[in-house]
Amino acid sequence: MKIKVIHGPNLNMLGIREVNIYGPMRLENINKNMENFAKQNGFEITFYQSNHEGDIVDAIQESLNEDVSGIIINPAALTHTSISIRDALKAVALPVVEVHISNIATREEFRKKSLISDIVVGTISGFGPFSYHLALIAMIQILNEIKASTQKES
Ligand code: DQA
Repeated sequence: MKIKVIHGPNLNMLGIREVNIYGPMRLENINKNMENFAKQNGFEITFYQSNHEGDIVDAIQESLNEDVSGIIINPAALTHTSISIRDALKAVALPVVEVHISNIATREEFRKKSLISDIVVGTISGFGPFSYHLALIAMIQILNEIKASTQKES
């Protein structure tokens, strides 16, 4: 089974941007750690990052042609504004785990609202780069449950 990880705007700047909030780890290292853990658990994993809302919508839609079973997404600033990302996630109807490096509930008022938190399986927020690892553990659990239930049916 394949997991797609989608990173939103400015996450390509991890390790450089606001290190006091987002930490020193770069996106390549976060992805590498996720890749190793996914492989150890028998899952394929792909990564996508964009600074453009429409491109993220396309990446979500393309999941359906890529045999993706679940999406892990950090929409970054678009979390708080993007109805089109919300609609795309609803359209593909795949299990989604939302991730944030910082705890958005403790930050500025405008970051407290996520436009996707009510349509995802769950949200992990506030554990630094480790949020991604926790999100991957959650996604593996979700997909293993789906696999077990489809095997039972057939
Ligand atoms: C973020 C939180 C957002 O508010 C912010 O715009 C980001 C990153 C996080 O991972 O903590 O770019 O999604």
